[in-house]
Amino acid sequence: MSTQQNNTDKFQAIISHAKEYGFVFQSSEIYDGLSAVYDYGPYGAELKKNIKDYWWKSMTQLHENIVGIDAAIFMHPTTWKASGHIDNFSDPMIDNKDSKKRYRVDHLIEAHADTLPADAAKALLDAMDSLLAAEDFAGLKQLIETNKIVCSVSGTANWTDVRQFNLMFKTEFGAVAAEPGDDNHVYLRPETAQGIFVNFLNVQKTARMKVPFGIAQVGKAFRNEIVARQFIFRMREFEQMEMQFFVRPGTEGEWYQYWKDARLKWHLGLGIDAAKYRYHDHIKLAHYAKEACDIEFEFPIGFKEVEGIHSRSDFDLMQHQTYSRKKQQYFDNDVDPTTGKPYGNYVPYVIETSIGLDRMFLLILSNAYTEEDLSTPEKQDSRVVLKIPAKLAPVKLAVLPLLKKDGLPEIARELMNECKGAFKCFYEEKDAIGKRYRRQDAIGTPFCVTIDHQTKEDGTVTIRHRDSMQQERVPMNSIKAMVLNAIH
Ligand code: GAP
Repeated sequence: MSTQQNNTDKFQAIISHAKEYGFVFQSSEIYDGLSAVYDYGPYGAELKKNIKDYWWKSMTQLHENIVGIDAAIFMHPTTWKASGHIDNFSDPMIDNKDSKKRYRVDHLIEAHADTLPADAAKALLDAMDSLLAAEDFAGLKQLIETNKIVCSVSGTANWTDVRQFNLMFKTEFGAVAAEPGDDNHVYLRPETAQGIFVNFLNVQKTARMKVPFGIAQVGKAFRNEIVARQFIFRMREFEQMEMQFFVRPGTEGEWYQYWKDARLKWHLGLGIDAAKYRYHDHIKLAHYAKEACDIEFEFPIGFKEVEGIHSRSDFDLMQHQTYSRKKQQYFDNDVDPTTGKPYGNYVPYVIETSIGLDRMFLLILSNAYTEEDLSTPEKQDSRVVLKIPAKLAPVKLAVLPLLKKDGLPEIARELMNECKGAFKCFYEEKDAIGKRYRRQDAIGTPFCVTIDHQTKEDGTVTIRHRDSMQQERVPMNSIKAMVLNAIH
């Protein structure tokens, strides 16, 4: 079987596993689902929250100069005029005339590149990047035609011209328009960042922040994605974890580099193999960016963006200053060594770090999903285990009395009561112990503790480690500290 087929199979296996074990469900599944919209089940919701908390802590607790906010999804419609999203937040699209299927041009070409040898793929993607940067739509169509790229549904190369398509969802606000022509439209925000920009001075003043400082936020964003068939990789409703870092103009280059390094370190701090990560510096820049790169991860569907780091200059604050007619300036009383005077008033420059929470979730799931062959000459055996970093695991500890009798459940309950205030625990007494271990492996629980008759005699329990499956005998009263140590 080819590597590509193996990877596709692995991706499908991860999607099935996510559903079977209550991580991710298709939204409104009983009505056949809603395309590119997903719900998180019991273990998914825990994992997602743990990722969110891990990011939030690393930003707002470990950095004294970063504070968090929680802005509304609805914003004044002028926000999106000022931010450039009404005019620019669109992607070049192409339709196949036979199947009527619409593709984002970059995704169509990228999918074709995935089928080519590495050198040819690189040449094709480089050509695409240059044409996208030049907004040369005729050139993009020609690139598709000369490479004989066909529609996956009709199998033909009967393409329309390349056109732009805005990705924002629009809705009515309040009562429907009183008079024809009254505009009461609002948009579902396509990025959380603008909620930070419009609150820049509120936060700076109330939290008494001094440049350089950051504002962090986690929240929903919405995009009417055209190609949406990669599970939670590309969704129409998703969550972003964004941080805008406000800096003195002229220092943005060093801060851009700082955040590029810092964000990769954050990923590697989870113990994930560095070889699975790479940077991708952008040639085609978003309308607001002066410099930008992606942190890419090797998903089963290939290396793909998980996080963006963008140098946004003073673009957004300047735009809001112009459209709101309210000054977005900061007074810097630090002394400029070249003039001997305070830096004075300026509109800060911004470095942004922006990571998709759902995409990070998929990264953790993809990296964790492992099928192990445990067969011996005597017996065929295998297991599926999610090797999720302990600090992110949905359940940290499973407490399993060996039998449902002889006072073992009561002792197990004592351990549950001791631990459940500190971290998420799971109690189970049904089925053979091996079966119970496998169920915990499948949801990624790093530790299982078994209470048996020896516990009654000497107060010790068996702790089983998920990845190595090794078991050790330890005092029951050491369990809480052991788990806390592993998850911090
Ligand atoms: N504020 C900048 C911004 O929104 P972006 O590169 O468009 O930049 C940032 O998005 C991150 O949000 C991406 O790296 C990705 O992780 C996530 N993201 C973007 N679109 C997404 C989608 N349709 N579904 C899931 N995650 C998405």
